[in-house]
Amino acid sequence: MTILLPTDPTATLPKPLGGSLVNRIRRAGHDFEAAELVGLPQLELDDRAYADLEMLATGAYSPLTGFVNEADYLSIIQHLRLDDGTPWSIPITLPVRRKDAGTLRGRVVLTRGGEAVGWIDVQEQFDAQKGLESREVYRTEDPAHPGVAALLAQGDVNLSGPVALFEVPRGAFARHHRTPAEVREVIEARGWRSSVAFQTRNPIHRAHEYLQKVALELVDGLLLHPLVGTTKGDDVPAHTRVEAYEVLLDRYYPQARTLLSVYPAAMRYAGPREAILHALSRRNYGVTHFIVGRDHAGVGSYYGTYDAQEIFGAYTAQELGIQILKFEHTFYCQTCGQLVSPRTCPHDSSHHLILSGTKVREKLRAGEHLPAEFTRPEVAEVLRAAYSVQP
Ligand code: ADX
Repeated sequence: MTILLPTDPTATLPKPLGGSLVNRIRRAGHDFEAAELVGLPQLELDDRAYADLEMLATGAYSPLTGFVNEADYLSIIQHLRLDDGTPWSIPITLPVRRKDAGTLRGRVVLTRGGEAVGWIDVQEQFDAQKGLESREVYRTEDPAHPGVAALLAQGDVNLSGPVALFEVPRGAFARHHRTPAEVREVIEARGWRSSVAFQTRNPIHRAHEYLQKVALELVDGLLLHPLVGTTKGDDVPAHTRVEAYEVLLDRYYPQARTLLSVYPAAMRYAGPREAILHALSRRNYGVTHFIVGRDHAGVGSYYGTYDAQEIFGAYTAQELGIQILKFEHTFYCQTCGQLVSPRTCPHDSSHHLILSGTKVREKLRAGEHLPAEFTRPEVAEVLRAAYSVQP
């Protein structure tokens, strides 16, 4: 892990990538008239594309103002940068079927369940290079990888161009749903001169809490930023994870130094590449630091334990504009009687309590008890209740 200087009293919120926060929210009756949309071609968005539309329109993906064009697509895939050299790791694309592409030109209205939610001004259509994208972004072409599977299932033509979103869909987590501008306001209002974001797609366990609190010893504020977009079928659903956070925050976190806010994007399971996307996006949300632990955004055994830390070497600290806090694998040691990592514990694995996500889900499905050294009882109870109502 990086050694930090004490909080710098002159520091301000980091500038968004590209210098300013993109805002592509356009309101009917204010920025445009609904009648202008009549007769335009329409495209129904799936969950991931809708989440990306929100990320683009609220500036979470600054400097992108829309789905990427072919030059950026290839440059991101091959060079980990936009065509202009800005760091970027995963192409944000809007794929459509080839048979539909012909009619999707000019301004295309984007819909959800048939309702207009925004538009894209199509500037370019280009062929996806699925083999290249799989190999470079996901480091595998295995169709069993959930990110590769999604890529293979999607259309072959990508639409690119600037987008508009009519309203931020605050939906299921309204209380915790904040745009980057809103998170920045909270950080400023609380006077945090440094802050750390924690990305997660799993139920909070003691190792997560340990990383968060070690980080909080070093910076002023903690942004707990669980991803609530689409995840693979066997991940614990977002509402259960958010409920577990609510319960835990009440009892074990300093309220004034913690902010729970949801991160609307879908999970891609791209490991190292996704760690970069997660970090750059959190910079746009206004934090100064980002936690990357073991196998960040990984799945199965596609990535090495610390690949998602090493990949940041592709950029200078200045280009990144957010400091990465790297943690080694953390677990409970029965002999030390505390959370440890190989950096702090001298004992071998027979002293350690390590449960994988798969093991936890197996135990939950079997109605088994999760040890308090692994998960706090309050969280175990939320998980148990959620799993006991499932078939
Ligand atoms: S992720 O897909 O969002 O990365 P998860 O919610 O499990 O999955 O992890 C959230 C963050 O905590 C990631 O940075 C991950 O590397 C880190 N992490 C999770 N478990 C551990 C652990 N036992 N030791 C160290 N880091 C961990």
